[in-house]
Amino acid sequence: MKKILILNGPNLNLLGTREPAQYGYTTLADVEAFCKAHGQTIGYEVECFQSNWEGALIDRIHEASSQYKAGELLGIVINPGALTHTSIALHDAIKGVEPLPVIECHISNVHAREAFRHHSWVSPAAAGIVVGFGVDGYLIAMDGLVRKFVNSAATKKP
Ligand code: DQA
Repeated sequence: MKKILILNGPNLNLLGTREPAQYGYTTLADVEAFCKAHGQTIGYEVECFQSNWEGALIDRIHEASSQYKAGELLGIVINPGALTHTSIALHDAIKGVEPLPVIECHISNVHAREAFRHHSWVSPAAAGIVVGFGVDGYLIAMDGLVRKFVNSAATKKP
């Protein structure tokens, strides 16, 4: 079974207790469990990785490139946390593994929050962006990955 990789960046290990007004009460373990369950229903095995370290996320993206080239991986859903707004290195990592598709996902609507959250270094390198749907956004991003890169009408000749 092909895989989808769910990556979470800094502080997302605190989901469930961290600023619940922004991020809700669902824990990262819950998110990973419902992504895996959803993967089963849409025919993909789901791998999950969270790190508070930029370099660890970059290493995992490089590793994912080998999985992608081997035909084992459809793509990545990443919530880069605050690295979204700071990390050119993450941007370069995603560009560096093209055409591996990466969907950027944010639980909160970053555009309705502080100005420093309005800019993303990841967005220009992402195949799609899901913002502001709460933790359901991870599932929407998984579906988006499949719709865009497997089932898309745009990729099929009429
Ligand atoms: C976040 C939004 C970021 O601005 C913030 O730093 C996070 C979480 C979100 O999921 O809404 O850590 O990516």
